Amino acid sequence: MTAHIEDHRESGIQTIRLNRADKKNALTPEMYLSIADALRSAQTDPKVRVTVLTGSGDSFTAGNDIGDFVITSNAPKGEKPLAGGSAPFPTFLASLMAAQKPVIAAVNGMAIGVGVTMLMHCDLVYAADTARFGMPFVNLGAVPEAGSSVLIPNMVGRMKAMELFLLGDQFSAQKAQQLGFVNEIFSADQLMPEVMAIAARLVAKPPSAVRETKRLVREHGALLEKAIREEGRTFDAQLRTPESKEALKAFSERRPADFSKFD
Ligand code: COA
Repeated sequence: MTAHIEDHRESGIQTIRLNRADKKNALTPEMYLSIADALRSAQTDPKVRVTVLTGSGDSFTAGNDIGDFVITSNAPKGEKPLAGGSAPFPTFLASLMAAQKPVIAAVNGMAIGVGVTMLMHCDLVYAADTARFGMPFVNLGAVPEAGSSVLIPNMVGRMKAMELFLLGDQFSAQKAQQLGFVNEIFSADQLMPEVMAIAARLVAKPPSAVRETKRLVREHGALLEKAIREEGRTFDAQLRTPESKEALKAFSERRPADFSKFD
């Protein structure tokens, strides 16, 4: 378990908290693997009936660590410099998708990139009224991931999905709820008490009926698996383009990116 992930288990509720507030809880390879371990071990822990996923400080997560994108963007084609034996992001995603017990996201603040797309794989999503959402994949020269190229158009319609993906603008918790990303919004100080009360209600329900209901609702099949593989391949290739290198450099230099010379 990395210092940046807390796994607290009490009264049937596992709370996984991203704990890298100074970097807006941006996700590193170690953090992905640590969350995956926590989720996987919860599936066989009889003391856990529901998982709550949340962030520390003022953010849920600002998405993948940009520094790790930079490392990938400078690596030779086909090489996965961050993989280290088990690819962290696919391992994280697979563990979230394989979770049989309900996962509740408590979006306490900024949710960017995978901070939004992971919500598609949670079962209930609650947000603080101060939370902001955004999927600036294209702005970074990248593409949607985590199956979002299939799941988000299915949820919000193709036109709306294109607006969210192509413009990459941030949007409010209210808009996220209208679009279907969020079940309910609470004031920032009430978010965790409300989410824990909802989690406690799930703990009291018949566990196999809860798990079977989740399995039936989440039977996505081969199309999603295929989309995730294709997204991963394209994301990786895009990170190595000059466009993406410019976007990542601009982020570190805190300036707008200039894509005018690319065709
Ligand atoms: N990866 C690595 N570091 C990140 C990060 C990320 N995804 N997001 C934020 N940080 C770091 C910043 O570099 C900064 O570090 P520093 O204090 O050492 O300079 C720190 O977190 C605080 O971020 P800052 O940008 O100063 O906060 P803000 O409140 O002005 O803006 C965000 C918050 C989330 C809007 C902004 O940080 C951002 O756009 N981050 C990138 C999001 C992104 O594109 N993610 C990938 C999506 S595919």
